[in-house]
Formats: sequence, structure tokens, C-alpha cells
Amino acid sequence: MFTLTEDQQNLATILETTLQEALAVLGSLENRAVAKAPPAPTPIGLSASGLGFAATLQDFNTRFAPGFSGSAGPRYLGFVTGGTTPAALAGDWLTSVYDQNPTSSLDSSAPDLERETIGLLRQLFGLPNDFFGSFVSGATMANFVGLALGREWLAEQQGVSVAEDGLGAIPAITVLSGSAHSSSYKALSMLGIGRKALKTIAKLPQREAVDVIALEAALNAQNGVPCIVIANSGTVNTVDFDDLEAIAALRQRYPFWLHVDAAFGAFAYLSQAHRHLVAGLAQADSICIDAHKWLNVPYDSAMQFTKRRDLQVRVFGNSAAYLGLPTENPDFVHLTPENSRRLRALSTWFALQSYGSAGHCEIVEKNCALAQLLGQKIASNGRFELLAPVRMNVVCFAPTNGNQASVTALIERLRDDGQVFLTPTLLFGRPGIRAAFSNWRTTAADVEVIWQALVSAIA
Ligand SMILES: Cc1ncc(COP(=O)(O)O)c(C=O)c1O
Repeated sequence: MFTLTEDQQNLATILETTLQEALAVLGSLENRAVAKAPPAPTPIGLSASGLGFAATLQDFNTRFAPGFSGSAGPRYLGFVTGGTTPAALAGDWLTSVYDQNPTSSLDSSAPDLERETIGLLRQLFGLPNDFFGSFVSGATMANFVGLALGREWLAEQQGVSVAEDGLGAIPAITVLSGSAHSSSYKALSMLGIGRKALKTIAKLPQREAVDVIALEAALNAQNGVPCIVIANSGTVNTVDFDDLEAIAALRQRYPFWLHVDAAFGAFAYLSQAHRHLVAGLAQADSICIDAHKWLNVPYDSAMQFTKRRDLQVRVFGNSAAYLGLPTENPDFVHLTPENSRRLRALSTWFALQSYGSAGHCEIVEKNCALAQLLGQKIASNGRFELLAPVRMNVVCFAPTNGNQASVTALIERLRDDGQVFLTPTLLFGRPGIRAAFSNWRTTAADVEVIWQALVSAIA
């Protein structure tokens, strides 16, 4: 029998098998090696008749699954990697079950769910109602959209449109930032603005936060020519925050589009102890926030926010007879780079509805407390030193008197030991290690395991 017809009849068995598989994987997250660097499995060719679901699952479990990392688990502290809460996972499964394309309102309430989710997120982050938002695949794309809006705003100041006339219609663009994330450089490359357009502004001493006086001097040197400022809320090494209120106040004297990369720093708003760090966020022209980091929904999910939805339609509008024109309440097809896409808002909607602001606040506060705990252990042990104070959820440290070789060797020993995964960095010219807490599963017992692994690996 043709495999697809067979599978249609066996759908319940296939889904039941997948459920059991999922439970087994999630149940073993605590025990499996946290990170791996296995050799690539030998590729197989395309089967003409199809292997069937059971054999395909077996092949996956033989050749690939054993090499998958435990990145959804509690001791994967590399990059800034969130896990997946149960409700978010359920929402993600249903996303595929319903397989909605939320870009048009012609046939489904799926776009309304995305709009409602954006409303819930506005509440979560304390953003006023005049912020519009949409879901994109990650913070890189949220930065891309925000910077595209900045580019169009700059053109608008000169009475032209880059969306219509191309970049040739305006002079070269200047972008100013203290510690822009690498994804903003990538976005500038994709936007034709160019990586070199970004001028790095001096930071405060021993900080990753921009020196606002130096920023003002750079704005002054623009001689009234509008530019883009990228402010950073939550830098990757030390979770440092630019002073958004002071930067926004500069707009009274200098013309600039204020984009804020708050990929994971926006979550400071959820914790009373850290909320002041994002004061002024609502004054941004565009904001990037990731969902697949600290909101603990599955990849790939982030949000871009702006008050200038009109600019967004100008840049991303996608009108055709069969798609319709943008209305007062434009369809998502007119708002972001993608046309067709999955309803990625659904897992966030499930997470927010299920756990509320208090549940998500608990994740943030717990992760910050665990980062403090690890930071204290590191600070009080002569073999390691902190490279920066632990501000929120990232501990940036190094072996005492460590160099690049000792840092790399330590990280590899830890990875091969399999109990924790950490990633390297360079802070103020010093090779270091980052431990980023962003998974809802991590506990104080995990910090003890991580600490013991560190102590053994450095011995
Ligand atoms: C501050 C910041 N901005 C942007 C990004 C890019 O995020 P993504 O990988 O979701 O595109 C990251 C990722 O770590 C980040 O930390």
C-alpha cells in the first residue's frame, strides 16, 4: 500500500508513538549529555517508495537523535537559550496541527490570535497600547524589521522613500550604538546600509552600557543629519543596559530613530528588582524582543514592536489582486519580511494564558537568583574570577590568570564531561566564559552540579 494512505489510516498510532517518544526525551533531559559535538552521520539517499513512519523514526533515533544536545534541559547555559514550558510545547504542537497561515484575515481568526498575543505581550512588558507588533522568526529578524523602519524614517525626513526608490535616493546612513549585538550588523548588511555604517560609541568605564555623553557628541557631529541609534537592553556578556531615558531625551535636540535591542533584556520589566533597567523602553521607535529565549517557547519566535505601522506597510507591503490592499488594520502579510508563515504566536499565547505574568516573572527571578548563586561560588573561589558583576541572568567569568588557550580547554573539558554547556567570549579584551541562565527547569541543585563540574574541570 502507498505509505501515505497507510499513514492516514494509522494517524492515531503515529501520534501516540510520537507522544511516547516525546515523553521519553523530555524525561531524560536531566540525564542526557548536555552538549555534544558528534561527527556528522553518513547521509542516506532519498528512498523512492518511502521508508514508512516506523522505519523513519528508527533511522532518526539511530543516526541523529543520539547526537542532539540537551539544549532544552536545565544545564545548557550556552548562548542565551530558553527551554520550552509544557503549555508552550502544547501550543507549538497545535500550531502544526492547525497549520494556519496567519498572514491574511480572509479565512481565519488566526491573525486575531496573533494580535491578541501582541496585546498580552504589551501588558507583560508594560508597553503602551499604541505599539503595534508582529511575530518574526528571531531577534535577528526583529532587529532587521526595526532597522528597516529606521531606514524608511530617515528617507521620510528627506521627502523620499527607500522602499519605492531604493537606497540610491538617500545619502549614506549613520548608525550609532555602544555594544550592538552581532545580529544588528547582519541586519545592516541585509538592508544595504552596510556593516561599516555602524559607528561604535564609547562605553562607560568597565561597562557595556553606552556613555550617553559620548553618544551626544556623536549626534552633535551629525550636524542635524538624521541617523539611527541602536540602544541595547541586555548585552550578551554582562546583561548591561543603556540608559534609555537619557538616550530618548536626546531626541529633543537631535533627530534620530531609536531602535532598542531588548532581545532578552526586556524581561527585566517582569522583576521588580530589575524593572528600572528598562525604564524608557516605551519611548523607543522600534523594539526587538525574543520569545524563544526567556519566554521559554520553542524556536523560532520573536516579536518586533513599533508605533509606526505605516512605515512598516510602506516597507513590507505585499499587495496583489488575490491578497488585497493594506487596510486600516493591515494583514500581517504587509508587516514583516515573510509572506506565508506558521502561527508562531500560538505557543506564546498558550504560555502567557497558562502561566500569566506571575509565572513568567517567577522564571526570570529564579534564573537571576541562580546566576547570583553561581556568581557567589565563583567569586569566593581562588581558581576563578568574575569578569563583571552578575547583573541579571549571565555570569561572565574566567579561570584566574586564564588565557585564550586555558579558557578554550576548560570549555571543551566541560562539554565532554556532559553535565553543563557554557560558551566562550571576550570581555574588555579578556577571554572569558559565559553562563546564561534562561531555562525554566534549572534549579539550585543544577547550580551545584555545574559548580562541581567546573571545579573538577579546572583541577
Ligand atoms: C541581544 C541580542 N540580540 C539579538 C540576538 C539574536 O537573536 P536570534 O538568535 O533569536 O536571532 C541575540 C541572541 O543571542 C541577543 O542576545
